[in-house]
Amino acid sequence: MKLLVLNGPNLNLLGLREPEIYGRRSYADLERFLNDCAGEIGAELEIFQSNHEGVLVDRIQQAYGVFDGIVFNPAAYTHTSVALLDALKAVGIPTVEVHLSDPDKREDFRKISYVRPACLKTVKGLGFESYRQALLFLAAYLRGEREV
Ligand code: DQA
Repeated sequence: MKLLVLNGPNLNLLGLREPEIYGRRSYADLERFLNDCAGEIGAELEIFQSNHEGVLVDRIQQAYGVFDGIVFNPAAYTHTSVALLDALKAVGIPTVEVHLSDPDKREDFRKISYVRPACLKTVKGLGFESYRQALLFLAAYLRGEREV
């Protein structure tokens, strides 16, 4: 099983950016955490981060026929990007939306997720654990053990 973890803008600054919201662990810590999760699940994992919307669109397109599932934290593009929604719909790869924080408990503009209609599920508000829950769900779903 090949899974892609896609991270959007400013997540490379984890640890530095608003630690009271996102925690003190770095992006490298997140990568290590994700690789440990992949071992737990028995999945092959690729992790990719970009600050650029079009690069994320390209990465979703390139995932077609290569990856079985995507765990996606679109970061700020969650709340703005029709292009990312369309890319996910175009490739039809089972995708889980994740967030470290709970955007629904923050500013009003974070309450809209453009990508959510193309996602099986959203996991939010659990810090790094959001990604683990998303990966576990996606793996079970792809193995036919879980329904949405
Ligand atoms: C985020 C939440 C978004 O609202 C924000 O723009 C981010 C990170 C999260 O993981 O909590 O950059 O996606």
